[in-house]
Amino acid sequence: MKGTLILVSLLVSWVCGPAATAVLDPDVPSEDGHGTENSNEIQNYSNQSAPEVCQLSTCELLLRALGTMQGRMRAMETRLEASDTKAVAMETKAVAMETKAVAMETRLEASETKAVAMESEIEQLKRANADKVAFSASVGGDEYQTGPYNVRTHLKYKNVLTNLGNAYNPSTGVFVAPVRGMYYFYFCYHAGQQNRGALSLHKNDQIIATTSHRTAESGMTENGSSGAALQLEVDDHVYVILHGNSWVWDGSYHETMLTGFLVTRL
Ligand SMILES: *[C@@H]1O[C@H](CO)[C@@H](O)[C@H](O)[C@H]1NC(C)=O
Ligand SMILES: *[C@@H]1O[C@H](CO)[C@@H](O)[C@H](O)[C@H]1NC(C)=O
Ligand SMILES: *[C@@H]1O[C@H](CO)[C@@H](O)[C@H](O)[C@H]1NC(C)=O
Repeated sequence: MKGTLILVSLLVSWVCGPAATAVLDPDVPSEDGHGTENSNEIQNYSNQSAPEVCQLSTCELLLRALGTMQGRMRAMETRLEASDTKAVAMETKAVAMETKAVAMETRLEASETKAVAMESEIEQLKRANADKVAFSASVGGDEYQTGPYNVRTHLKYKNVLTNLGNAYNPSTGVFVAPVRGMYYFYFCYHAGQQNRGALSLHKNDQIIATTSHRTAESGMTENGSSGAALQLEVDDHVYVILHGNSWVWDGSYHETMLTGFLVTRL
């Protein structure tokens, strides 16, 4: 800022002569010209081919301009000081925030550790729960009889009695092994003799067991059942197929049922 002041002084000096400069700037020693480097500079500038003396009106104008500029500079200084104060305050705040951020990071890390611990706990619980698999369901539904159909059909045991572990899906009739292990399945049916009755227990695409009867004229009913212990891998499918042109009957005593449970994990 002092540099600007000097420049202005020089300008005035150049136009008005050294005396005017001395009046304008109290820092510059007066008339005799020797002493500081500043006054020398002014003298040398004023030495150049400019007029030695300026019009009074011009000087007044310049003085006024200078006064305004000094005022502005003071204002700017004040603002600068205020900015400095603000900057210091902001720095303090930034430091505080950094401290907070570090604290939060620490807490986050602690939370993360906890989350990992909880996840492993949940995994353990899941594993423990996966050991509990058992279901029983009867065909149920609105009609007593299911079939006969022309084609082989997934028999859906819609009336769920138990379904521990939810590995059996009543809307598809398929049991999906949740863990590797030895399971036991049992299925039985009841049906009239007017149609054939034939059911097969399947593991994936493979027929495991079948129970059936032939058509007869007697008007009597038939009952059949079968079952098997099966070693299953995770995601193996077990279900019952109702053969083509055969039927089953299910009533309130649950005559046609499928049951399965995990004997032991392997
Ligand atoms: C100004 O001029 C004088 C001679 O007139 C000289 O002695 C002095 O060193 C000069 N000052 C500067 C800053 O050039
Ligand atoms: C300034 O003027 C003086 C004489 O008045 C002269 O000796 C000096 O060389 C001049 N300086 C410049 C920089 O022109
Ligand atoms: C089949 O079981 C039913 C009872 O659910 C019984 O009434 C019927 O006599 C049985 N059929 C035969 C052939 O034993």
